[in-house]
Amino acid sequence: MVIIGIMNQKGGVNKTSVCVNLGFFLADSGKRVLLIDLDSQANLSEIYVENVGNKDIYYVLTDEDHDINTEIAQCELKDYLVENLYILPGSIRLAKATEEISGQIQRERILERQLSFLEGEWDYILIDTPPILNTITYNAINISDKLIIPINYGKYSLDGIYDLFQAINKVKGFDGIDNEFQNYKYYEPCMTSETLQQTGILRKK
Ligand SMILES: Nc1ncnc2c1ncn2[C@@H]1O[C@H](COP(=O)(O)OP(=O)(O)O)[C@@H](O)[C@H]1O
Ligand SMILES: [Mg+2]
Repeated sequence: MVIIGIMNQKGGVNKTSVCVNLGFFLADSGKRVLLIDLDSQANLSEIYVENVGNKDIYYVLTDEDHDINTEIAQCELKDYLVENLYILPGSIRLAKATEEISGQIQRERILERQLSFLEGEWDYILIDTPPILNTITYNAINISDKLIIPINYGKYSLDGIYDLFQAINKVKGFDGIDNEFQNYKYYEPCMTSETLQQTGILRKK
């Protein structure tokens, strides 16, 4: 199982679009995929869940005795269920989750603990995160094997990368300059606006 966190505290850089489309592609290729929507805006859930707010990762984050498996839904598009693609949906309730878990010891590890109770075989877990660096995002960093950080070639998008990598180093316990995350900050971005054109939403029926 590979857990991929998709993050950048800048909004509108295609985090959710990557999650929607990469998830669909992997599932369509026969992989069993679980999406996790940690953004209170719940755009990912709105695309794949008919009744947003019915099942909610919020309960899993705020109640350590809550069974994570009961909040998983199979993804559906307008008129059919998507084979192999499942979701732990989010909702506006997530906006208050950060505050509710703020007093907990090891609050960055809540999702890690809850995922240890996950049943079934999963090839990939893709985590969509909010456009902010908070405890919820730290939970995603902590649990991720790989990170995808979509950016657009604008000053504010690039400015945020340094803070994000600082957070990654902190949560992952990296220090020194001998790791790829720490080194990243020394690279000048070499992309051009042509190579970073926004991809938009692709969906295959
Ligand atoms: N369903 C959609 N149809 C058309 N454009 C969309 C749709 N959803 C998002 N977009 C656009 O795609 C871009 C990336 O959005 P999104 O993936 O939601 O970014 P993020 O999750 O990083 O905030 C934005 O410009 C957004 O307006
Ligand atoms: Mg989003």
